Amino acid sequence: MHVFVTGGTGTIGSAVVPELLDHGHTVLALARSAGSAQALAAAGAAVLRGGLADLDVLRAGAEQADGVVSLAFGHDLDGPDALAAAIAQEGAALAVLGQALVGSDRPIAAVSGTPWVPGRASTETDPLPTEGPVAGRGRSVTALLALASRGVRSTAVRLPRTVHAEGRGGFAGLLTDAARRSGVAGYPGDGTQRWPAVHARDAAVLFRLALESAPAGTAWHAVADEGDAVLDIAAVIGRRLGLPVERVPAETFGPFGPIFAMDQPASSAHTRDALGWQPTHPGLLEDLERLEP
Ligand SMILES: NC(=O)c1ccc[n+]([C@@H]2O[C@H](COP(=O)([O-])OP(=O)(O)OC[C@H]3O[C@@H](n4cnc5c(N)ncnc54)[C@H](OP(=O)(O)O)[C@@H]3O)[C@@H](O)[C@H]2O)c1
Repeated sequence: MHVFVTGGTGTIGSAVVPELLDHGHTVLALARSAGSAQALAAAGAAVLRGGLADLDVLRAGAEQADGVVSLAFGHDLDGPDALAAAIAQEGAALAVLGQALVGSDRPIAAVSGTPWVPGRASTETDPLPTEGPVAGRGRSVTALLALASRGVRSTAVRLPRTVHAEGRGGFAGLLTDAARRSGVAGYPGDGTQRWPAVHARDAAVLFRLALESAPAGTAWHAVADEGDAVLDIAAVIGRRLGLPVERVPAETFGPFGPIFAMDQPASSAHTRDALGWQPTHPGLLEDLERLEP
C-alpha cells in the first residue's frame, strides 16, 4: 500500500514509518520543515512539503495514496487557547483527509485517545468524551468514523495517556519535563490514579494492522499497560533524576491538570483478540529507567 502519513517525525510517527516500510508498504510523509523533510527522507519515506493547515496539500496527499495514517497534532501547547487551536486545526485536517477518500473504500487510521469510565477500565466500545478540554478531538474522530457509511474504511487507534520510547513521551514525559523544570518530581491528585501506556513501537504495529485489515468505522485500543499508578510513575522519574517526589496542585500542569488527576485505566482485550495485536516492547515503568539526570 502507498500510505500518506502525517506526523511521521513524532514519537509515534517515527515508529509508524519504519513499521510500514518493513512490511512492504511505501510511505509519502507530510513535512512542514526542512529538518522534518530530511528526517523522513532518511527514514525511507517520500516527502510532501506542507503543514497541517495546508488543506490542499493534505487533499493531494490523500488522493495519491492507497491509505492514510493521521498522527500530526500541534504540540506547542502553552495554554487553553493554543490547545483549542490545535484541536480545531486537527479537526479541519481530518475532515479534508476523510472527504478525499469518500467512495473509494480506502483506509484511514486516525489517532484518538482511550476514554475514561468511572470504576472500570474503558473498552473499545465505550464512547469518547463529549465534555472537557479534549472533547473536540473526540468529535473530529467520531465524524471521521461516520464516513464508514460513505465508502471510507475509517478506523481510530485510541492511544493511552503515555506513548513512550526511550523513556520519553506522553503524559509521563510531561511529568518528566515538569520535574526537570521545577526540581520536584511532582504528581497531581493522590497518586493512586492510573494512566494506561504503550511503547511507541507497539502502537505503530497497531496502526499498521488497523490500516491493513480493520473494518470500517471501528475503534481499537493501543494499550499495553492497563494502568500505572501516577505515584509509581513519579517515583521512577524522581529516582532517575535524583529529585524529591511530591504531590503538586493539578493546575501546575495547565490545561492538562484536570485530566492528569483522573483515574483512567483502559483495556485492549478486544483489540488483542480481534486483530492479533500483542505488545512486545518494555512497559512504561521499565522504559522510564532509561531516563538520565
Ligand atoms: N505520545 C503520547 O503519549 C500520545 C498519547 C495520546 C495521543 N497522542 C497523539 O498521537 C499523535 C502523535 O503523537 P506524538 O507523541 O508522536 O507527537 P509528537 O512527538 O509531538 O509529534 C507531533 C508530530 O506532528 C507533527 N506536526 C505538529 N504540528 C504540525 C503541523 N502544524 N503541520 C504538520 N505537522 C505537524 C510534528 O511535525 P514536526 O516534527 O515537523 O514538528 C510531528 O511529526 C498526536 O495526535 C498526539 O496527540 C500521543
